[in-house]
Amino acid sequence: MISDKLFSALNDQVNYEFYSAQIYLAMQAYCASEDLNGFANFFKVQVEEERFHASKFFDYIIDMNGKVIITGFENPDTDFNSMLTVFKNTLEHEQIVTKRIYNLMDIATEEKEHATISFLKWFIDEQIEEEKTDNSIIKKLQRIGEDKAALYMLDAELMLRVFTPPTPV
Ligand SMILES: [Fe+2]
Ligand SMILES: [Fe+2]
Repeated sequence: MISDKLFSALNDQVNYEFYSAQIYLAMQAYCASEDLNGFANFFKVQVEEERFHASKFFDYIIDMNGKVIITGFENPDTDFNSMLTVFKNTLEHEQIVTKRIYNLMDIATEEKEHATISFLKWFIDEQIEEEKTDNSIIKKLQRIGEDKAALYMLDAELMLRVFTPPTPV
């Protein structure tokens, strides 16, 4: 049995994942306006990932006979002064998401809600990947500095990113 408290926290995460998608859509727009289309592609794929995360929480709540309530969120940032700022903000945002997933896991553990504990494990692993990706790109951007040619090489690399929905388990 999932408590009202846990359902409410899971519902908040549906909305927070959609909010993440909006944040990354704004970053995609910024990168595209800077004509860095590989960086824009990176965020386009990230938007799809976030919507996928949201729909995973959405489906889980419905599967467990709960109710999904969609809310609005504040406007995301639209201006950044560099790609490094974009990725530092991205990492900061993902660290908040990780804390939120841990908080959900704490509630599920307190309530001995084993189905939810099992469901959340996928997100614990996913957050490792998210933070690892952002840290790696931040390191690359720091190394690149003001080197425009190197920035375009990274842009070309990020153009190759594609969204592959994980196979359901
Ligand atoms: Fe996410
Ligand atoms: Fe991911």
